[in-house]
Amino acid sequence: MARKFAEDRLVIASHNEGKVREMAELMAPFEVAVCAAGELGLAEPEETGATFIANAELKARAAAAAADLPALADDSGLVVAALDGLPGIYSARWSGAGRDFAAAMARVEAELVTAGATPEGADAHFTSALSLCWPDGHCENFEGYVHGKLSFPPRGDNGFGYDPIFIPTGHGVTFGEMPSDKKYALSHRTRAFEKLVAACFPRHG
Ligand code: IMP
Repeated sequence: MARKFAEDRLVIASHNEGKVREMAELMAPFEVAVCAAGELGLAEPEETGATFIANAELKARAAAAAADLPALADDSGLVVAALDGLPGIYSARWSGAGRDFAAAMARVEAELVTAGATPEGADAHFTSALSLCWPDGHCENFEGYVHGKLSFPPRGDNGFGYDPIFIPTGHGVTFGEMPSDKKYALSHRTRAFEKLVAACFPRHG
């Protein structure tokens, strides 16, 4: 049985403004006062984990211990089957210091060619890991997925990251071409959040 969330304050263990906003919006129905790790002056730990869950957990665990409050963190990325799961936990890092996702998407295509795979239609999924940790070290972790295929060249200006090369299963356009509410309804982050709510916020699940 997952531990239930019974506190009235929660730290969002992220220094990414977009993620803080998104997670704060997701928490809005639960009458929990949220604050961001940055607002509390917490350091940003290095993502040294080998999995999405490990990275989410190390961020949440560090924030919970430092703030003496429960903390929620996420880690996410694009997993390409023919690249043995890459870019995976390196999804952000493939865009380099300049956060150049055109270059990161070109690298996915080039690496597929090098691997002898066909980029168009290559199987891929996005993963989102969420970790909710308490100051006593207890953590509850969840993962959500959205499966689909890659398509080149990148298409669409909506969304972010690898959205312009990802077509979710059952749809004919990329995440980059979808309105954000439509993407959001399908997304890996939403799936992971639904699991978190069902397990730890059951009155609202
Ligand atoms: P994180 O901040 O370490 O979780 O990095 C996640 C990276 O994965 C982002 O920078 C994006 O490159 C990629 N990513 C995660 N979720 C999505 C998504 O919904 N669309 C496109 N790219 C995503």
